[in-house]
Amino acid sequence: MTVWRSVITGVGGYLPDRVMTNAEMARIVDTSDEWIVSRSGIRQRHIAADGEKTSDLALNAAQRALDSAGTSASEIDLIVLATATPDETFPATATTVQAALGITGFPAFDVQAVCTGFIYALATADNFVRAGQSKNALVIGAETFSRILDWEDRTTCVLFGDGAGAVVLSAAEATGTPQDRGILSTHLHADGTKHDMLYVDGGPSSTQTTGHLRMLGREVFRHAVTNLSAVVHEALSANDMTPNDIDWLVPHQANKRILDGTAKKLSLPAERVVVTVDRHGNTSAASVPLALAEAVQDGRIQKNHIVLMEAMGGGFTWGSCLARW
Ligand code: ACO
Repeated sequence: MTVWRSVITGVGGYLPDRVMTNAEMARIVDTSDEWIVSRSGIRQRHIAADGEKTSDLALNAAQRALDSAGTSASEIDLIVLATATPDETFPATATTVQAALGITGFPAFDVQAVCTGFIYALATADNFVRAGQSKNALVIGAETFSRILDWEDRTTCVLFGDGAGAVVLSAAEATGTPQDRGILSTHLHADGTKHDMLYVDGGPSSTQTTGHLRMLGREVFRHAVTNLSAVVHEALSANDMTPNDIDWLVPHQANKRILDGTAKKLSLPAERVVVTVDRHGNTSAASVPLALAEAVQDGRIQKNHIVLMEAMGGGFTWGSCLARW
């Protein structure tokens, strides 16, 4: 049976110029390079310049993804942008990117699933493609988390950074088997009862302010390892695969200890896990596409490789996307 598959034809990442090291962080809050590295694996993060907005980061990543796909902006018929730090409460940051690319008319909207945002956006765009409603979709994860951090709270501000990543999904006719190239499965989950473990204490309808990120780090850590290994096994079993079939695990980059814990539960060697958290920190919805961009550009991810992406974030939300590159 002929089906439509979403093939990832291009990928791009963009990080703001300014790098903030742990030593600089230690001048802002009572912390140390040793504490941050040992607890999270993070050595530095990028911080958006004054006036540099989420849409600016997103536009740069989108242009790089279009260039790498060899697709012109005029061929795009859908933009799904994942962010928890939009330029404005409305309109969607996706529409700002659409206008900046000089294209109009087709749907462009934001998806909000915090650190799982890119996986949610990818699943949404993949459903458009498989339903025959999109031929070339731009899927973006972009964040300026530095704007919602409490810079007096050392338990959170040391962990996050700013950035953006994007992919182009192109519709391809396929057989409907795991031998196809493209996205083979997506699995999404949420558990709204865990709100208080990770949230922002503000918003238009509650406080009329933007608010700051609040987190019970230890609780988030415990749930992250459990939920991520469950979602990875769910993806593998849906495709009749085992961890041995995974060429690259591209996880959400929250914390090196969470990455190591997930890889260990899968008995996956560290060489097959893409890690950027040491240099990017946690860039929320941008982290998976930024990691993808790095591993594609340096030649690690090759055509036909099995790539498993997973993420977990506020909500809680969590999910996976398994693709044959
Ligand atoms: N520098 C120095 N000391 C600190 C810092 C800091 N930046 N932050 C906390 N501490 C102190 C605490 O005050 C505490 O001191 P105390 O024992 O005197 O009370 C001590 O360090 C230990 O604190 P814990 O919170 O128990 O430290 P833990 O080992 O759990 O590490 C961390 C904290 C890094 C937040 C960890 O729990 C974690 O990674 N959790 C996951 C959070 C995460 O990744 N969130 C991202 C969003 S969700 C996602 O993307 C999956």
